[in-house]
Amino acid sequence: MFRIVSSVLAVASLAGTALSQLENKPFLYDWGQIEQYGPLLRGIWQQDWNIVNFTTWDDVPDKRDQIPVACTGAFDDWLAPFKSADFTVYEVLYNDCDQPFHLCYHKDVSQNTIGPIGMIYNWGLVPIGMRQYVGNAVVIPIPNDPNLPGRTAHQAGPSVVFQEDFFVRWSVIAHELSHSVDMYKSSTPGLRFSESAEWRTAVGDDSHLSSVYGRSNYVEEFAEIGIMAAYDIGSEGRLPDVEPDWTKVEHQLDFVTKVFGTDLMLGRTGCPAKVGSTYSVPKSDEVGARVQLPEGTELFTPTEPYPDSTKAK
Ligand SMILES: *[C@@H]1O[C@H](CO)[C@@H](O)[C@H](O)[C@H]1NC(C)=O
Repeated sequence: MFRIVSSVLAVASLAGTALSQLENKPFLYDWGQIEQYGPLLRGIWQQDWNIVNFTTWDDVPDKRDQIPVACTGAFDDWLAPFKSADFTVYEVLYNDCDQPFHLCYHKDVSQNTIGPIGMIYNWGLVPIGMRQYVGNAVVIPIPNDPNLPGRTAHQAGPSVVFQEDFFVRWSVIAHELSHSVDMYKSSTPGLRFSESAEWRTAVGDDSHLSSVYGRSNYVEEFAEIGIMAAYDIGSEGRLPDVEPDWTKVEHQLDFVTKVFGTDLMLGRTGCPAKVGSTYSVPKSDEVGARVQLPEGTELFTPTEPYPDSTKAK
């Protein structure tokens, strides 16, 4: 059903949106089923090695004791149980973007799940048109202390945070980065496309939602449709082969495809809308240490934790 539309959608604010339209709507995918798109996305998001170079901030004298604030508990409560000193900051240059990416990797992440080079490599496979909307990606371990809460993945303003076992699920990566595009590609600062009247209309015009999780709210439904749209654009229109019932969500697919535009096509280069790494703060050796945030710092409410389909039922 692939259609490229060059214009960017203008969105208008829609305060106090009622959720009732979502609660009772049927959906295409029950818990976990949308994860079938993970291997499909991995299959199309292939490209030649695109890493130009990388370093850790440990090896940069004036950055050694610093960390982007989005990798700390000052910015994101999920990170409060960790010492920021236990993260390594990787600064990576890819050949499809002239600005480096900054990824934070916790020392207890299992190498068997995803090592630092795997993290850097995988990140480079995400189409640059989507990847550029993330300032910092953070990978955290599965807690070995049963008293600590398990995490999944979420997006918080310029950052995306993944517990290690969710960073290897490509459908989850596409979901979280759809949130990033939703937030940062909008020409109306601070307003997500998914908070617009136009998105609500698109949802209303369809008989179905993408997934049971999309019932949570309009923002989550956008990101779930984002998984399907990412596959359709990247595969140049092969979504109907995967989902014969795609027409049940076609207005939503149209909307998200317009938002994504040509950005999700493969083989693109350039990152004119690159969201920068968040500012640096000193690392701390204390769990939950609060750093002093500069005045005027904007904090972001994270999106809903991605559902753990083994527990979500
Ligand atoms: C990577 O290459 C760029 C461009 O040549 C250079 O500016 C940058 O310092 C290099 N970074 C590392 C970590 O080597």
